[in-house]
Amino acid sequence: MEKDLLKFITCGSVDDGKSTLIGHMLYDAKLIFADQRRAMELDSGKGSADGRLDYSLLLDGLMAEREQGITIDVAYRYFTTRRRNFIVADTPGHEEYTRNMAVGASFASLCVILVDASQGVLMQTKRHARICALMGIRHFVFAVNKMDLVNYNQKKFEKIRKDVRVLMAEADGVQVQLIPVSATEGDNITEKSVRMPWYGGPALLPYLETVETGEPCGGRGFSMAVQRVCRPNRLFRGFQGQPASGSLAVGDILTVLPGGQKAAVAEILNGDKSVERCEKGQAVTIRLATETDVSRGCVLGKDTTLKTGSMLAAYLLWMDDKNLVAGRNFRMKLGTQTVPATVMKIRHRVDVNTGAEVSAETIYKNEIAFCEISMGSRVVFDTFAESREHGSLILMDRLSNMTCACGVVEQEIVRENNLTWHEMDITRELRESQMGQKAFTVWMTGLSGAGKSTIANEVEKRLFAMGKHTMILDGDNVRMGLNKNLGFGEEDRIENIRRIAQVAKLMNDAGLIVLAASISPYRPDRRMAREIIGENFTEVYVSTPLAECERRDTKGLYKAARAGEIAEFTGISGVYEVPESPDIVIDTTGRSVEECAGLLLAGIEKYL
Ligand code: ADX
Repeated sequence: MEKDLLKFITCGSVDDGKSTLIGHMLYDAKLIFADQRRAMELDSGKGSADGRLDYSLLLDGLMAEREQGITIDVAYRYFTTRRRNFIVADTPGHEEYTRNMAVGASFASLCVILVDASQGVLMQTKRHARICALMGIRHFVFAVNKMDLVNYNQKKFEKIRKDVRVLMAEADGVQVQLIPVSATEGDNITEKSVRMPWYGGPALLPYLETVETGEPCGGRGFSMAVQRVCRPNRLFRGFQGQPASGSLAVGDILTVLPGGQKAAVAEILNGDKSVERCEKGQAVTIRLATETDVSRGCVLGKDTTLKTGSMLAAYLLWMDDKNLVAGRNFRMKLGTQTVPATVMKIRHRVDVNTGAEVSAETIYKNEIAFCEISMGSRVVFDTFAESREHGSLILMDRLSNMTCACGVVEQEIVRENNLTWHEMDITRELRESQMGQKAFTVWMTGLSGAGKSTIANEVEKRLFAMGKHTMILDGDNVRMGLNKNLGFGEEDRIENIRRIAQVAKLMNDAGLIVLAASISPYRPDRRMAREIIGENFTEVYVSTPLAECERRDTKGLYKAARAGEIAEFTGISGVYEVPESPDIVIDTTGRSVEECAGLLLAGIEKYL
């Protein structure tokens, strides 16, 4: 019979002896090659004072850990025993690297969490357990290490057992095993130790060899995300992918999601061989009996719990240096689908140390948050509890494509969406031609006091004189009406910009030329404005330096901000992200209003 495979992850703090533990396991079980062992003996001779083997060296080979004293990436190791094959994700213990742990945990069905017997259950231990549980692990092994340092004392172990029980009480349906070990001495690693006769359970490796973890959840019914549409010729159209769950036979009726069309399976190919059925994990090509609209990102399903929708609630592990606030948009990758997505609301943050739900407006790196996410189009997904494949997602920065967060879907949010866009007979083009102009938006960004409103005012006068129909959306003015309920925190500023952009768009649709003047300090929000407004958008950076704005201090706000009377004042205690590629840059220092207006008009000449 073929040996099965256990994928597990090891978690521990920097000095818990994680590498030593795995190293010892491999060494004792003769699972390393002789030359590697020789290398280690040599290396240990050099590296350790008492000439004893340093087992951690076995694992360190490829890692920066050796130089830094901390592991910085996920290292996957393969080993095999008589009974089982293993892949272990060795992940860093340093707090900064929570993301690697989450990535490692997302692939594993069991985790080995190291606890230092002399220190007991620490904040780190709790953090590790919570992240593993969040990422869907249901089998926990707590290896209570360094028992030699506490004289193999049963009382110490029992105290830790109690703390672990309290910690794991919150987790439903998980299996927990505690094993007292000494990674350096080899107690209870591959064989039961005679030094802890009071421990009645198995040693670590035998436990890992026999523990039943079952199939990681793949969802009910048959499901396969389409990775590729294969069209070698006009007659053949097949959909390729790897079923995430279930099995399928020729003749079965499939539902194509998100569309919902149904079609019978005409043929299943495994490689280039035609087969009667296929199942989870195989790489297959499926041909349907009827012409059906299927593209990459679609999911083929039969009897599934899959959902199709444009809003969901998910736990996110935030991994970006830049904080998360509600309103920000990303590219979301879920299965083979990639769509624009906005974090609409942060419902709460999860305190990884205590498990408490804490209300939060901002989420920082390595924190976990429960969020509502709205997608730009309908997406096929499942809850993570039903399906790991269809229930996990990542959020990426829209420009750099860097991963900002990984997440697991907790629930579908069904939104009453009985809205229909009405195409009206009087179009923007008709209005434009009636007014004899082209509608566009000039978006002016820059510090408070940079001269945005002054220039806008001058430009508008000139446009007016040219017979143009215009409107100014001025930050201060809009904030006194439409945006009266918004403050200057990051979340409110995002909403401020969103509303101004939507109004500018409406005014453009009405045929008007819009001059929007607001600080708009964040780059992603100006990009959002550009996307809302569409083409005919010009970004003007009024680049007057802070020192000059502060010298003018027309509203006296800089003085107040310096005195600490205004929180998050842009340029003083709040950030301003300089535009990377504005269409026009105007520094008002030493220039007259007329001159500045002239510069702006020259830049928008093509619209006039
Ligand atoms: S934005 O940052 O949200 O784009 P907006 O342009 O609408 O700002 O409003 C900025 C104006 O609000 C400033 O010109 C100033 O008069 C006033 N203001 C009051 N508090 C602040 C603050 N904390 N930061 C910046 N501007 C402030």
